[in-house]
Amino acid sequence: MCPGSFDPVTNGHLDVIRRATVLFDEVIVAVAGNPSKRSMFTVPERVGLIKQSLTDLPQVTVMPVDGGLLVDFCRRVQAVAVVKGLRGGTDFAYELPMALMNRHLSGIETVFLSGEPRFEHVSSSLIKEVATHGGDVSGLVPDHVLARLLERVGRVGQTENGQPDALG
Ligand code: PNS
Repeated sequence: MCPGSFDPVTNGHLDVIRRATVLFDEVIVAVAGNPSKRSMFTVPERVGLIKQSLTDLPQVTVMPVDGGLLVDFCRRVQAVAVVKGLRGGTDFAYELPMALMNRHLSGIETVFLSGEPRFEHVSSSLIKEVATHGGDVSGLVPDHVLARLLERVGRVGQTENGQPDALG
C-alpha cells in the first residue's frame, strides 16, 4: 500500500511506487483526502492523474481512501505492508509516528524506501507554490500533470515571466 495525498502526484512519488512494484507483486496506491491541507485537486482528479502516470504497470491499482483509518483500508484490501519514501530526516520525523501508530493499531509494518536524490527537493506543496508563481516545474511531475497544474493556476499560454506566449 502506497498511501498519500498526491495533490498532485510528483515524479518522486512515482519513483517510489515503481520501486515498490519490484518488492511486491501488487501495489495499491491509496489516495487520501487530508482535511488539514487545502487541496488543489479533488481526490478523483488525483486518482486519475496517478492512473495516467502508471498505465505501463498493470500490477498497480489506484483507489481513494474512503476517509476512515488507513489501517482499516489495509485490512479490507489485505495489504501486507505500507510503503513510504523518505527524502530525509524531516520526512522520517513525520512518518515514524504514523508507522508506529499504524503498527500499534493493526500490526501492519511500514517499509521505508530511500528517496531518489534527484527528487529530494520535490514535494507536492512546493510544486504547487512554484507553479502558482510562474516557476518551471517541468521534469519534476509528469507532462500531463504539468498541463493540469498550469491550467489550474491559470498559467496556460503564458511564459515563465507571466507574459502571453506565441499561443496566447
Ligand atoms: O501525503 P501525505 O499527506 O503525507 O499522506 C498522509 C496520509 C494520507 C498517508 C496519512 O494522513 C493517512 O494515513 N491518513 C489516513 C487516516 C489515518 O489513518 N490517520 C492516522 C495515521 S497514523
